Amino acid sequence: MAQIVKATDYNLNLCKQALVNSQVIAVPTETVYGLAGNALDEIALHTIFNIKGRPLYNHLILHTHSIKNAEKYASFNPLARRLAEQFWPGPLTMILPKKDIVPNLVTANLDSVAIRCPQNPTFLTLLERLPFPLAAPSANPFGYVSPTTPEHVNCSLGDKLEFILDGDDCAIGIESTIVDLRNPDNTKILRPGPISKKALEEAGGTLFEQAKTASKDELRAPGMLKSHYSPNTPLEITTLDQLKRLITSKNQSAFAFIFQKRPDESLYQKASNIYWLSENGENMEIAHNLYQLLRATDALNYQRIYIEDIIETEGMSVALKDRLSKAASQ
Ligand code: TXA
Ligand code: MG
Repeated sequence: MAQIVKATDYNLNLCKQALVNSQVIAVPTETVYGLAGNALDEIALHTIFNIKGRPLYNHLILHTHSIKNAEKYASFNPLARRLAEQFWPGPLTMILPKKDIVPNLVTANLDSVAIRCPQNPTFLTLLERLPFPLAAPSANPFGYVSPTTPEHVNCSLGDKLEFILDGDDCAIGIESTIVDLRNPDNTKILRPGPISKKALEEAGGTLFEQAKTASKDELRAPGMLKSHYSPNTPLEITTLDQLKRLITSKNQSAFAFIFQKRPDESLYQKASNIYWLSENGENMEIAHNLYQLLRATDALNYQRIYIEDIIETEGMSVALKDRLSKAASQ
């Protein structure tokens, strides 16, 4: 198992030394935990792909501590600068033309790079101490649910890592919004996330197209693959009415039920196979709990997990619906 280390000065230096020596460590971000290595070091990059079991055609996000630093690795246009000023540090990843210094392994030979400046204070402090940016995919085995606690990382990748930098539970709990800004006249949201289409359009003063989920052949971003972020137990999305019918059915104890708490549901509170996605129906709370619940129920050998559907309106609900459908498609 890896050592989960608090962000003391001593431990931050330990992490820095490990990274300088081409090692890979797990780091906290406000979205999900990342598997981080020196983005300019091919040995570290290969290690990330090996630990994650990720095919080399999947590009990695480059994490930096400031807009100024980011400009060393990507060519910013005025729109990208405006969005960075508005949303960084924060859960927005921008696809921009890459500069030569970025290794092709980071970008899977594309001439664009995905870049973001994260908000988690522990991760930012670490980035500020480093003379290089960090490449970091989510710290889960390829295709599995992203981790939102240090324990999640330890559970699935702990035997392959020396350190997990502890930054508590991820404040947001689902991955960043990814926008393609290579052409400011044709901007696309490649992965919906915590920064909504409306917020992007207001800040950018331009419309954003929501890109469709890609098939395996036309893969642009693995986050766009239909089957991604999935638990091993079959997961089925149901309506609240269906859930209620199932809960009272005969062999219901073989199943896990995940839904939002409502005042009239106190009835079911005692059953051990019932889990609350939220106490109050707020999307921020659902995002914070979603991956934790999927991982927790997946570990308990249920035959199937039933989860209440997300009503997709605007903002976070779009991202939640996206992650839920990906988790449920096998
Ligand atoms: O919140 C997040 O974004 C987290 C934390 C750790 O920062 N990271 C994350 O990384 O979710 P990952 O690798 O699991 O997902 C990043 C997505 C992948 O689907 C990747 O293919 C896509 O970003 N991506 C990276 N570079 C790209 C590029 N140049 N063009 C298109 N998509 C790209
Ligand atoms: Mg991922």
